[in-house]
Amino acid sequence: MNKIAVLTSGGDAPGMNAAIRAVVRTGIAKGWEVYGVQQGYEGLMNGHMDQMGQRAVGGIVQQGGTILGSARALEFKTVEGRQKALAELKKREIDGLVVIGGNGSQTGANALYEMGFPVVGIASTIDNDLYGSEMTIGVDTALNIALEAIDRLKITASSHKRAFLLEVMGRDCGYLALMAGIAGGAEYISIPELPNEPEDIAKELHAAYERGKKHSIIVVAEGAKYNANALIQYFKEHKAELGFELRATILGHIQRGGAPTAFDRILATRLGGAATAALAGGEYGVLVGLNKGTITTTPLSVVVANKKSLDLGLIELHDELNN
Ligand code: F6P
Repeated sequence: MNKIAVLTSGGDAPGMNAAIRAVVRTGIAKGWEVYGVQQGYEGLMNGHMDQMGQRAVGGIVQQGGTILGSARALEFKTVEGRQKALAELKKREIDGLVVIGGNGSQTGANALYEMGFPVVGIASTIDNDLYGSEMTIGVDTALNIALEAIDRLKITASSHKRAFLLEVMGRDCGYLALMAGIAGGAEYISIPELPNEPEDIAKELHAAYERGKKHSIIVVAEGAKYNANALIQYFKEHKAELGFELRATILGHIQRGGAPTAFDRILATRLGGAATAALAGGEYGVLVGLNKGTITTTPLSVVVANKKSLDLGLIELHDELNN
């Protein structure tokens, strides 16, 4: 291996820059040339890539986002799109690729590998829904941002005897909502994995009110059966039964910005180093991830064929705590 390229793809995640830095510097330490691809697979198909030196990744370990840019490239889902990307890599004699991203990105990485190109994936998404890594880059930062929002909402909620509903990201996965709800002491957590009805939430909140609670926090995953907007509508119509006034906050992309936590910087740095080590060792078509405290590799074919499960026992624990 002499030349590798690195790209970030899909939704950005805090810590991606630390991963880019680690790939570039550990790649150069191995005597390779390292190319940074602009805007994910979009840039790969269009040949937008430049060689990066050690200094090009200076001062970025603490920055959220991705200095390479990211995109969701529809054309790359086609064979023609992927052939275009391979031709661009071939033109520059690049012989290895590191893909930093989540499910969609690693599906693309696996497709390139199956077309014969040496690829290694790095687990990165705030959703924590990627099989093959217990924690992905960006989750810890996003979780702490959601937690700060809960802590702030609790203060104002208790001053005004209100119920606050906070919607957090996560696509179809309830990880962020579940963990933020537990860490923030929410009264109710609603996740896609355990669909519930607005009546269930209203009942819980009313019971909390009857027990003398001065406020209530409901954390809702964006992918839950009823998202914030649907719940607001329901609670508007059933205002009298609740006991609390209801306000809603949709946290949205705020969760993806900000400086990465120490955990995310260290995870990203370890995974970046592991990705170039895998390429150097001829271990291609794998995802580098964190499992039981150690860095592991999992075949991309296994990663994309499996769904990561959520520890639903934590909901039971939450229910016991919340009385
Ligand atoms: O996958 C990360 C994520 O932030 C999800 O939580 C969310 O559903 C989605 O991306 C939002 O995508 P976009 O930034 O394209 O609106």
